[in-house]
Amino acid sequence: MSKRPVVLVVMDGIGISDNEFGNAVKAAYKPTLDELWGTCPHTEIKAHGLAVGLPTDGDMGNSEVGHNALGCGQIYSQGAKLVNENIETGEIFNTDTWKDLVANCKDGKMHFLGLLSDGNVHSHINHLKALIKRAKEDGVKEVRIHALLDGRDVPETSALTYVDDIEAYMADLNDDNFHACIASGGGRMTITMDRYEANWAMVEQGWHVHVLGEGREFASAREAIETYRNETGVVDQDLPGFVIAKDGKPVGTIEDGDSVILFNFRGDRAQEISLAFDNENFDKFDRVRVPNVMYAGMLQYDADLCIPKNFLTQPPKIKYTLTEELCKHNIREYAISETQKYGHVTYFWNGNRSEKVNPALEDYVEIQSDVVPFEQRPWMKAAEITDVLCAAIESGNYDFLRTNYPNGDMVGHTGNFEATVIGVEAVDLQLARVKKAVDAVNGILIVTADHGNADEMYEKKKKEDAPIKAKTSHTLNKVPFIIYGADVELKQDENLGLSNVAATVADLLEVAPNEHWNESIIKK
Ligand code: 3PG
Ligand code: CO
Repeated sequence: MSKRPVVLVVMDGIGISDNEFGNAVKAAYKPTLDELWGTCPHTEIKAHGLAVGLPTDGDMGNSEVGHNALGCGQIYSQGAKLVNENIETGEIFNTDTWKDLVANCKDGKMHFLGLLSDGNVHSHINHLKALIKRAKEDGVKEVRIHALLDGRDVPETSALTYVDDIEAYMADLNDDNFHACIASGGGRMTITMDRYEANWAMVEQGWHVHVLGEGREFASAREAIETYRNETGVVDQDLPGFVIAKDGKPVGTIEDGDSVILFNFRGDRAQEISLAFDNENFDKFDRVRVPNVMYAGMLQYDADLCIPKNFLTQPPKIKYTLTEELCKHNIREYAISETQKYGHVTYFWNGNRSEKVNPALEDYVEIQSDVVPFEQRPWMKAAEITDVLCAAIESGNYDFLRTNYPNGDMVGHTGNFEATVIGVEAVDLQLARVKKAVDAVNGILIVTADHGNADEMYEKKKKEDAPIKAKTSHTLNKVPFIIYGADVELKQDENLGLSNVAATVADLLEVAPNEHWNESIIKK
């Protein structure tokens, strides 16, 4: 085994684009990244579409598929693709889970909760449509939608496009024997879709509007969105929760005998609300009333913890991960990030498993994230992560260390260009400290990213004189891959992507790559 520790830094959301316009990465003062790029072996690698197991090359990258590919060295068909296939073949409706969900609510309602957009990161509206249609065909009489508004994986004020689309779709299906409508909703960063236990209060608010029907009442989702926009000026992801009511009564509280399907396929932001429905010993907040429902997820979000118990699509069975392989060689691993991305370098990295392969060899550290709008604190916890990471590097206790700096992504998602520039600069400042710690132990540093975001902060203009619109979502761009401190030559190949990184790490640690992995980026 190499005596030289390897440190891998994921600069979340920092992609490469030649465009100056709205490029917060280019605009940032980042002497360390520029120096590394200018003086070290480097290349650009793919982080979106087919290269990370998404249905098409039109699909932007995201942290789940990105970290999965980084951590397992292979390309697996991911949730977005698996659900498409499961629906296209009709397999999903032949499962016992679907049949039980239908049977369970024959005298009640079928509720669909999830992110209402075509972002294809957490969910897709087409999946929802297919489920509603089939529910009707299978004899379900009452369907309720609990719509989380996106504006983070799709344009920032696009919620009405999806609301109108699903309302029209349901209107076509509705008849004397079948009735589907929206029952509640709210912005995805305000209610329900918290992750990694950063802010349980969001989930509690979601529970109140979706389950209990408690919240500000409106006659329609459109009215709620328009009213909140006028009153608050906030974008879709931050809109407050709402309840749809008729004659002063919520139209779709969740009651005993109902079925509930979370139609999101991605796991990080689906776990907490799943636990609230599915865990008998739940104690994160007072649920007030716990309806006796059958609950299922579109996927199983964590196979180790069985969250949720019922699910409609088998998640990819990710095998031969880098961690599994390194554990076989007694390599001591260390992973650290702040709450918002902690699960990215642990759970996503290890193929959506939250358990360690060998606890004696793996140490994982979480730095508590602030619960604030990140455009107000674009430096986030980058310095605190680095304090602890540098100590770990210099301790000599670890052979492979990895971290994720969330700034380019989390601040990028706010759509605030100036703040995102500062976020990128904050990462660069810390990169200088990591580099110094790596030097101190004669280590090797890898710098890369999981997907782009900060590299495109404005929507592409459709017309030259159109106003500039903030872009909150990820990009299709490639990401940097740099190796500092090793005398190696890197391949320059159009087709290299995140799944080529695991074998590269193994090379640097002088461990034979697993035969199932995609090739190393290092020329031999
Ligand atoms: C989110 O969940 O914040 C976005 O939908 C995707 O961002 P991530 O893939 O970078 O986590
Ligand atoms: Co992101």
